[in-house]
Amino acid sequence: MNKKLANGVLMPMIGLGTFLVADGTSAYETVLHALSVGYRHIDTAQMYKNEESVGQAIKDSKIPRKDIFITTKQRGHSTVEKMRAQFEESLAKLQTDYVDLYLIHWPNQDKKINQQTWAFFETLYQEKKVRAIGVSNFTRSHLTDLFETAEIKPMVNQVELHPGLSQVPLKKYLDSEGIAIESYGPLMKGGVFEGIWGETLGEIAKNHNASIPQVIFAWGMARDVIMIPKSVTPSRIEENFKSKDLVLTKEELLQIDDLNRGKRVYTDPDNSPWGPYTE
Ligand SMILES: NC(=O)c1ccc[n+]([C@@H]2O[C@H](COP(=O)([O-])OP(=O)(O)OC[C@H]3O[C@@H](n4cnc5c(N)ncnc54)[C@H](OP(=O)(O)O)[C@@H]3O)[C@@H](O)[C@H]2O)c1
Repeated sequence: MNKKLANGVLMPMIGLGTFLVADGTSAYETVLHALSVGYRHIDTAQMYKNEESVGQAIKDSKIPRKDIFITTKQRGHSTVEKMRAQFEESLAKLQTDYVDLYLIHWPNQDKKINQQTWAFFETLYQEKKVRAIGVSNFTRSHLTDLFETAEIKPMVNQVELHPGLSQVPLKKYLDSEGIAIESYGPLMKGGVFEGIWGETLGEIAKNHNASIPQVIFAWGMARDVIMIPKSVTPSRIEENFKSKDLVLTKEELLQIDDLNRGKRVYTDPDNSPWGPYTE
C-alpha cells in the first residue's frame, strides 16, 4: 500500500523506523530482516548515526535500489556548504546517489533559518538528488512561516502521532495543503499498553486476534497516515508489517479516535531547545 505524494512519488504506507537502532550488527541485521519480510521503506536520520549499516544492509539485500524507499533527515540547520557536505555524507554512507525523501529533522526557533534550510532542500530537489522533500516536527505556524519564501511545498511532515495524540487539527491542515502526514512514536513509549489506551486497544485487538501495535498501525493507515514502527526484534518486525492486512471496523476506528488526550511523550516542537543554530 502506497501513499501518493503531491509530486506523484509513491511512498510505502508502512516502513521500518531506526531511531536508537545501533550502528553495526544491530542496524545491519534489523534492516536486512525487515527487507526479507517485505518492508520496502526504511526511515533513518543523520542523528541516528546508523546510515552506514542501513546502506550496507540495503546493498546486501540485492533488492534493486529503485524498489526501496529511503528517508533520511538533515541533522541540523547550518550554512549551505555544511548542509551540502552533510547530505553528501548521507549519500556515501547509504551507498546511493539519491534519497527518496529528505526531511528537516526539527524546526529552528528562528523562521529565517528554517527558510534558508528549506531553500537548500529545494535546490537538492531541483538537482534530482532527492525524489521528495519534507519536514519533521513542524507545527502549522512553522509551516506558514516557511510558505512565506518557499517555492515548493514540503511533501511530508513527520510528527509525533499515536492514539494519545492523534493530531486531528494538524492533519486537517496538512490535508488542505496536500502534505502527507507521517507518524513517529506510534507506541507512545509503551503508553499504549497501559490505562485507557491498553484497555480499549486490547479489546479491539482481541476482536481480530491481533496485537495492540498491529491495531495502532492499521488505525494509522486507515486515516491515511504513514507508519514507521521501530523494532530490532525479528518477530515484532514481522508482526508490525502484517498490520497492513488488518482491517478495523468504522466503530473501532472511532473508538481509537476517542483515545486522543493531546498526550505528548516526545519534545514539543514549540518548546524545543533547538536553535537558533544547532550546528
Ligand atoms: N522525526 C523525529 O523527530 C522522530 C522522533 C522519534 C522517532 N522517529 C522515527 O519514528 C520511528 C518510530 O518511533 P520510535 O522508535 O520512537 O517508537 P515506536 O516505534 O513507537 O516504538 C519502538 C519501541 O516499541 C517496541 N516495539 C516495537 N514493536 C513492538 C511490538 N509489536 N510489540 C511490543 N513492542 C514493540 C520496540 O522494542 P524492540 O526494538 O526492542 O523490539 C521499541 O522499544 C523511529 O524509529 C524513527 O525512525 C522520528
